[in-house]
Amino acid sequence: MTVQMWTEETYIELIRPYAQAMGQMLSCVEELQREMALFCDEPLHHVKSRIKTKESIAGKLKERGLALTAENAREYLHDIAGIRLVFYFESELRQMARLLEQRSGFALIRKKDYIAHPKKSGYRSLHLIFCVPVLCEGHLDCLPVEIQLRTAGMDFWAGMEHRLCYKRAGEKTVRQNQLMEEFSGCARLLAALEKRIEDFAM
Ligand code: GTP
Ligand code: MG
Repeated sequence: MTVQMWTEETYIELIRPYAQAMGQMLSCVEELQREMALFCDEPLHHVKSRIKTKESIAGKLKERGLALTAENAREYLHDIAGIRLVFYFESELRQMARLLEQRSGFALIRKKDYIAHPKKSGYRSLHLIFCVPVLCEGHLDCLPVEIQLRTAGMDFWAGMEHRLCYKRAGEKTVRQNQLMEEFSGCARLLAALEKRIEDFAM
């Protein structure tokens, strides 16, 4: 068996079907969003999507002690195609999650509910991975697309925490541990604040 080099061409070849899968999922989200808009005005705050960069794929495989190959990326990384849906309210986020699970037509292959069970860092979001069929060289391949659903409050927290703490390599200093404690406290405050606003708004 020949081992393929990890070149720009290998990367482009790898991501092409993921971009297609992500496009299909984005169309589906748009449709479900239109459906939700019949009952509530502008449920989504914003939508972001991205294909993992060549450097980020390489970094993740290295971190896991895996050889830098397209095969390993396909087999072990489930977030090459990623979509982030940001809502005003958690209830609307839940409604979209239900619609995605029941009506998207795509199979849900993994669900992590960090809203019901926040991470130690305080991180809150709902992560869903769907399997999206894409035609590759004459046959249907099922590609994972990760969707992160969060509220604008959770997104604000995640952006700040990502900038200051998330995945800082090496030993944790006293300062970093303090920061983590602070962030997890802020996450609890934000959750309470969001609940308060949702209670009087809904
Ligand atoms: P990754 O290797 O980072 O993809 O983690 P994972 O495969 O264990 O998946 P997980 O569902 O835990 O997290 C995936 C993504 O969620 C990350 O790439 C971040 O975008 C986000 N995330 C998870 N935990 C945190 C956190 O503590 N802080 C922030 N800011 N983001 C987080
Ligand atoms: Mg990830």
